[in-house]
Amino acid sequence: MQKKTTVFDAILNRRSIRDFTSEFVSSAMLETIVTAGIWAPSGLNNQPWRFVLIRDEAIREKLAVLTSYSHIIEGASALIAVYLDIDTMYDEVKDHQAAGACIQNMLLCTEELGLGAVWLGQILKNKKQVNEVLELDDRFDLMALLAIGHPEHHDQQSRRKPLSDFILKNL
Ligand SMILES: Cc1cc2nc3c(=O)[nH]c(=O)nc-3n(C[C@H](O)[C@H](O)[C@H](O)COP(=O)(O)O)c2cc1C
Repeated sequence: MQKKTTVFDAILNRRSIRDFTSEFVSSAMLETIVTAGIWAPSGLNNQPWRFVLIRDEAIREKLAVLTSYSHIIEGASALIAVYLDIDTMYDEVKDHQAAGACIQNMLLCTEELGLGAVWLGQILKNKKQVNEVLELDDRFDLMALLAIGHPEHHDQQSRRKPLSDFILKNL
């Protein structure tokens, strides 16, 4: 009998995937990923996140030039731009925490779907231009761009410092 994959397995197995095949990522898959995102917790359950789902090649090319990670965007079949809606926000820190929880839910969902993804933050330095490409006004504040696709390989390695480095006290 096949062993059931747990959330803990998905957390440990998830790696940032930066090399993708040219295989298509369906709209339905992107909607599943966003569904995982919107079920993240948020302060007062205000759900401040908004998304742009991008599979259009011309738009991907316009976004690729806005980051030094252009090769990742060019190689990914799909992108999800994650925004905070400023008009829905109530607390700077808590709304940004909610965006992080939302993004992590989405990354774990891609892992479960057998897709790969990477959280791209470097592009935030050009977030104004990203909004221009996506024809969004300043009400929407870019939090991250997720590059999503079918993994080319599973050779990614990542390290964490030992647990004891992080636990300040165990009282
Ligand atoms: C806020 C944030 C911004 C990031 N920005 C980028 C980025 O611009 N380009 C990139 O290749 N990876 C980016 N990453 C991915 C990290 O490099 C990656 O999560 C880290 O090296 C740990 O590797 P792992 O995700 O495989 O465990 C970002 C991650 C976070 C959380």
